[in-house]
Amino acid sequence: MAEKKQIGKVLFSQEEITRRAKEIGKQIDKDYEGEEVIFLGTLKGSVPWLVDIMKYTTVDSKVDFITASSYGSSTTSSGVVKITYEPRINMYNKHVIVVEDIIDTGNTLKYLTAKLEERGPKSVKICTMLNKESRRVADLHADYVGFEVEDLFVIGYGLDYDQKYRGLPYVSYLDETDVESL
Ligand code: IMP
Ligand code: MG
Repeated sequence: MAEKKQIGKVLFSQEEITRRAKEIGKQIDKDYEGEEVIFLGTLKGSVPWLVDIMKYTTVDSKVDFITASSYGSSTTSSGVVKITYEPRINMYNKHVIVVEDIIDTGNTLKYLTAKLEERGPKSVKICTMLNKESRRVADLHADYVGFEVEDLFVIGYGLDYDQKYRGLPYVSYLDETDVESL
């Protein structure tokens, strides 16, 4: 039977996201004054948020990307994580800010930040657009959080379901009323 997926209401509009990115950008500028940071975006979902953070910070920065795939069902991660794209940039003795779209269980970032620590950075912090605190399994603290979000399967502004919806200029959710299985 065909699945009917519907895009729900707008949870966070472009304007709200921009406003938070500006606030967080200012905070990052303050926290890293006189320093250089590496923004490490997690592919693919963090891209729109990473662009905002880069636009609204003036601190010296470089950018690179990392891809971590987490094995599990399509909607929840298992904690078994594989890094499928390794950043080339030298992180030794550098401040790294991992820029993420959403933290759910926290398993992916727990693994990823532990791997990054092996490269001897001066510090590693996390800047996530969305945080689903209620779903946290791993002991993981996000330093900069755009918005807390309830336990919905969110899409848009980089977030996908089955690689779709990443281009929506706002964050919404999949209305599951007609979805047989996610
Ligand atoms: P975690 O390891 O459970 O924290 O999962 C993190 C990753 O799962 C995120 O980087 C997303 O790629 C994906 N993810 C978790 N929740 C959602 C969601 O509601 N919508 C889309 N992707 C999600
Ligand atoms: Mg992700």
